[in-house]
Amino acid sequence: MKNERKLSLKTGEENLEHILKCHQMVKGDIVRGENCYLYDSKNKRYVDFESGLWCTALGHNNQRVNEAIKKQIDLVMNLGFRYTNFLAEEAAVALLDTVGLPDGKCVFLSSGSEAVEFGVQIAKNITGNKYLLTFMQSYLAAYGAAGNKYSDEWIGFDFESCLTCKEKDECNLNCEKIKNIPFESIGAVVFELGSSCGTVKFPPEGLVDLIAKEVKRNQGLIVVDEVTTGMGRTGKWYGFNHYKFKPDIVAVGKGLGNGYPVSAAAMSREVAQELEEKSFGYGQSHQNSPLGCAVAKEVINILKEERLVERSYESGTILLNQLNEMKKKYGFIKEVRGRGLMVGVELSNDADNYIDSKYVHHKMLERGFMIGCNKLRNIILFLPAFTIAENEIINLITNLNDIFRERKSLR
Ligand SMILES: Cc1ncc(COP(=O)(O)O)c(C=O)c1O
Repeated sequence: MKNERKLSLKTGEENLEHILKCHQMVKGDIVRGENCYLYDSKNKRYVDFESGLWCTALGHNNQRVNEAIKKQIDLVMNLGFRYTNFLAEEAAVALLDTVGLPDGKCVFLSSGSEAVEFGVQIAKNITGNKYLLTFMQSYLAAYGAAGNKYSDEWIGFDFESCLTCKEKDECNLNCEKIKNIPFESIGAVVFELGSSCGTVKFPPEGLVDLIAKEVKRNQGLIVVDEVTTGMGRTGKWYGFNHYKFKPDIVAVGKGLGNGYPVSAAAMSREVAQELEEKSFGYGQSHQNSPLGCAVAKEVINILKEERLVERSYESGTILLNQLNEMKKKYGFIKEVRGRGLMVGVELSNDADNYIDSKYVHHKMLERGFMIGCNKLRNIILFLPAFTIAENEIINLITNLNDIFRERKSLR
């Protein structure tokens, strides 16, 4: 009884004393969401420019997704991987169509990390003991082989200097950086084509397509981590749609569930066939779960029927244009980068123009805007739902302008 009382008193605005602190938390109690808005227990409204953690691409409390969940929980939620439900097949057909592998196969999992790790494991299973190649700028996963890209099995390629290379559009095998890649020993390249370590940097087209071509020429596989860049986030269905190559394995998460934890690994028919011939085994408690598949299928339907991938591109263009206009006014802004609604603003670290991303983040929160912040690199981030209204983009810019103007006047 004493314990129950103690627990109930500690909820709400109090600190979460029984939740492990393994990352920074903003004090508060968010109790409700509606499209791009979140409300705390005192009914203060926030405009969510992070969509959870880049998950709720269709907005919070999406009625169609809610209906799909309600319908499914009254039927069956979880089956265990031995038993089947046709929803998994329907969700797979829908997902494979979007990735451009209509005759491929899918497995539905729970988190983005799991989907990427699964992609890496199946690539390793097929290609044997060869190296894995990725960009140093990638995040990939919270754990597993994909989460430890500094281990001996990985080769990391840093594309930072390629971004300003004069020959970046004619990237070729004579380049010293490319020459250092032992393509004959690469089993798979794992691309993350929009760095999600909060830097919003996109590797050049020439570089990505050349690496993809060389990996394939040496019988390697191409895995893409589309956990953040996928489901329309970059203004196209997938991050790889901004390049020319075709992937063998595609890992998706985040937006696929619009906040519900469902992810997937999609693969080509050839990859699936080889795994099935080898009797590759994998099983977990929520694999191909009817509830996860019901959500994934409905999310894909909504993205298509409501033209939301196109909206991600259109709204992203508005946001980028507005931010680029701001850049002309303030030396605080070093660079504006983005594709679709994956947008980052790198702030200046110069003594004359310094402004701290943490300060901007804090001030925006006070004004009712949740934006992302990479303190280490001094970057502020904007990844709202694709349903964000144009007037909220304009409001965001007005408030950012106020903060920058105030700061400038203090100098
Ligand atoms: C590019 C990328 N891959 C994988 C992950 C891992 O996804 P999850 O956090 O759902 O495990 C993330 C998470 O932010 C990510 O940004």
